Amino acid sequence: HGTSRVNNNGHLEIGRCDTTELTKQFGTPLYVVDEELVRQRCREYMDSFRESGLTFQVAYASKAFCVKAICRVMDEEGLSLDVVSDGELYTALEAGFPPERIHFHGNNKTPFEIEMALDANIGCFVVDNFVELYLLNELAGQKGKKVKALFRVTPGVEAHTHEFISTGQTDSKFGFDIGNGSAIKAMEEASKLNHIIILGVHSHIGSQIFEVEGFKLAVERVADFAVEVRKRLNIEYDVINLGGGFGIRYSNEDTPLPVPEYVEAITDAIKDNFTKNEYPMPEIWVEPGRSIVGEAGSTLYTVGTQKDIPGVRKYVAVDGGMTDNIRPALYNSPYEAMLANRANEKNEEVVSIAGKACESGDMLIWDLELPKINSGDILAVSCTGAYNYAMASNYNRIRRPAVVFVKDGEADLVVNRESHEDIVGNDVIPERLRKQE
Ligand code: LLP
Repeated sequence: HGTSRVNNNGHLEIGRCDTTELTKQFGTPLYVVDEELVRQRCREYMDSFRESGLTFQVAYASKAFCVKAICRVMDEEGLSLDVVSDGELYTALEAGFPPERIHFHGNNKTPFEIEMALDANIGCFVVDNFVELYLLNELAGQKGKKVKALFRVTPGVEAHTHEFISTGQTDSKFGFDIGNGSAIKAMEEASKLNHIIILGVHSHIGSQIFEVEGFKLAVERVADFAVEVRKRLNIEYDVINLGGGFGIRYSNEDTPLPVPEYVEAITDAIKDNFTKNEYPMPEIWVEPGRSIVGEAGSTLYTVGTQKDIPGVRKYVAVDGGMTDNIRPALYNSPYEAMLANRANEKNEEVVSIAGKACESGDMLIWDLELPKINSGDILAVSCTGAYNYAMASNYNRIRRPAVVFVKDGEADLVVNRESHEDIVGNDVIPERLRKQE
């Protein structure tokens, strides 16, 4: 992926940085982000939308990987930002991300989060349910503000990788259902509220999707809904947000389309539908997360112990695991890996990569072909840029790894490795439990 290659020393290089040098400088486990590849993905999205001639916004779904440095990159590339909590909002604001390009998502925004976002004058709220709608109107009113709102609707299309299911799919914790009439009711209610400006509708049909059919079907449903809203309620609005979900290549079995082809398929479908319906072309927004940062990330581990069970399996343990990558344990997600320090050597054995957490389920990769592996080797797991650091934990009080951005031979630390002080930083020993000197 991206700028990865094997150098003359037989070492894996990313962003023209030798990964074995990176491990010496920053330690392991280490998240390495190929900044150029992130920027390239951003540009693929932005350029393809520009070519479509539509008015658009590409909002990076920051839940995939939210740190200040990535917010800076998104700002520089002209993207917008989708946040889903006060923590993500705080990160974006601290990074100096322009608030008018921030969109606030989530099915249970707290009053605290809503007030924080109102005070920051963010671009829009993606309203998820009736309770939130009235709360948002009330809190905006208290501050004498009017807020822009998209309405998250469930179009009855659910996509999972290669399959998409077109069902009632009313049973979801997210959004207003189109099928049972709650979506139109929400917008009708909103049109009577003084502090809500109806900006448009939002739908998100799933994640790690490879086929564009699901998106096309969602476009159809949302377009029909848009026309219905316009006719029945006489509400005009500007934005159709199709969410995120474009898949990436974790392994060779994954076959995503190049970003420009996705975008073209979607924008064509939008044009067809809206022209057919004689509805003025709305602004199109999307919210990719994984497809912007996923392939750009790699995790470097140091190999430690091994356990060979003859005739059964050989376990090879690394100095990280489910605490820095929960996805194999949580979703059975497949990952690929190679030896970064002996990248040219041919594979000789099949091993299974174990993490170091006290849990049998802490396995990163089953049955991986590698050269003969020794303690001290550096294992590089690819495609760890999305939902890895973002979902990292301190289980077993393991410290979260550092994150570096690499680009043109330079490596910059963007997140420090957690320290022991960080681990106990929020602990408090009540007076009565303090050790008597
Ligand atoms: N927009 C909305 C409203 C979403 O819920 C999501 C993801 C996205 C955009 C971005 O989707 P993406 O382009 O990254 O697929 N933790 C899981 C993924 C959860 C995705 C949740 N929503 C994983 O590790 O696969």
